[in-house]
Amino acid sequence: MTLASHSTTAAITADVNHYIHPASSIDAVQLHGPKMVAGAHGNYISDAQGRQVLDGTAGLWCVNIGHGREEISETLAQAARELDYFHSFSGMSNAKSAMLAQKLSELSPDHLTRVYFGSSGSDANDTILKMVWHYNNILGRPQKKKILSRWQAYHGTSITAASLTGLPAFHEWFDLPLGPIHHLSSPHYYLQAQEGESEAAFVDRLVAEAAQYIEQEGADTIAAFIGEPIMGAGGVIMPPEGYWPKMQALMRDNDILVIADEVISGYGRTGDWFASPAMGIKPDFMATAKGLTSGIFPMSAVFTTEEVFAVLREGSRKLGNFAHGYTYSGHPLGAAVALTNLAIMERENLCAQAAEVGAYLQQQLAERLLPHPNVGEIRGTGMVAAVQLMEDAAAKRPYALSKKIAIAVSEKAWEEGVTLRPLAGVNAIAISPPLTLTKPEVDTMISMLQRAIVAVVDA
Ligand SMILES: Cc1ncc(COP(=O)(O)O)c(C=O)c1O
Repeated sequence: MTLASHSTTAAITADVNHYIHPASSIDAVQLHGPKMVAGAHGNYISDAQGRQVLDGTAGLWCVNIGHGREEISETLAQAARELDYFHSFSGMSNAKSAMLAQKLSELSPDHLTRVYFGSSGSDANDTILKMVWHYNNILGRPQKKKILSRWQAYHGTSITAASLTGLPAFHEWFDLPLGPIHHLSSPHYYLQAQEGESEAAFVDRLVAEAAQYIEQEGADTIAAFIGEPIMGAGGVIMPPEGYWPKMQALMRDNDILVIADEVISGYGRTGDWFASPAMGIKPDFMATAKGLTSGIFPMSAVFTTEEVFAVLREGSRKLGNFAHGYTYSGHPLGAAVALTNLAIMERENLCAQAAEVGAYLQQQLAERLLPHPNVGEIRGTGMVAAVQLMEDAAAKRPYALSKKIAIAVSEKAWEEGVTLRPLAGVNAIAISPPLTLTKPEVDTMISMLQRAIVAVVDA
């Protein structure tokens, strides 16, 4: 036994004996052990045996610049030597966080000029909800607190974020959702439209549903509407044309704030810095994380407007401290990594590359996989896509969830040499590679997925 394989065995034993895995079957890890990832470079990860596996998910939709950048390692080492950590409570600051806040306000849509830092997408959404509730308290309308979210949404797994999330597995058995949160229908035309309903009629029905709820509850009780511009973990759902502008107009008419959760779509994934502008969304709040540091340091950034900021400031005049903060808010190492990450993205033009290679990815997925009788829909934009598996695509008959078809396909794809994300609740496979993926790598990835689908459905 080599030294490396010996330490892998020790690590697997330690894992099985002590490590509770997030978002995993605890039973399956006990029965079959974990999949150890030993290294990562460029668009590949390597397993404990040294096998190279294409990273078709950029980690968890986040390693936008690809793995193993020397510049990032140097940034971390240098920043740690300068200022390893200090907090940002009580008006303390550090140059890296301040410069990052300025840089982000330059990259974001013009009206989003104020930035708050945390450590995860979930805490970004928690922060936004607390800011929204605080905002309405300061404005003297304490009854305006309800939040509109959507089924199929994914906003994270803290108590608030999981409550916003619209996936049953995140609610049932956890006594959630908690709080004044209401879920509207998901804008997934392919699976949710009624027989013979046009896309335009589908959009109008969803907008009418929201309008009716607002009417019934009273706009003076509803604070905000939250949505991912493109739903991610719920299925990579592209809302039909007109959905966002109409929903946004309805919210504006009723003085309801709009929150864009860009935790996946931010920082280049759709081919732009942020997805909101191209989709006609002008949010009052924007949640971001993941691609901010390419996942290399846990960091989130919440954006808001001068208008909201002025109200928060007014609150501080009356109340003193804005009583919300995390130990790691504005972490100097995270800010340093984010600045280098954004500099790499700008220098290498990764948004434009994501747009170009992403268009090729979407076109190739449609051309090569859609003809398969068990593939019902290819959806996505830029470097985020999903392949919808159907028991009978022609008859639009879905697989029973108990067949766990997406998990089987992603397991097969792993054996083929690519990691892809099973979206088990909707029988879909998500693809979200690093923005550095090349066209030949797109071809390889699709071939592997194609073989995995054929092997599973023909078994
Ligand atoms: C849109 C969206 N919001 C929020 C989150 C939660 O982020 P985190 O896992 O960092 O808490 C995610 C994670 O995938 C996400 O996709």
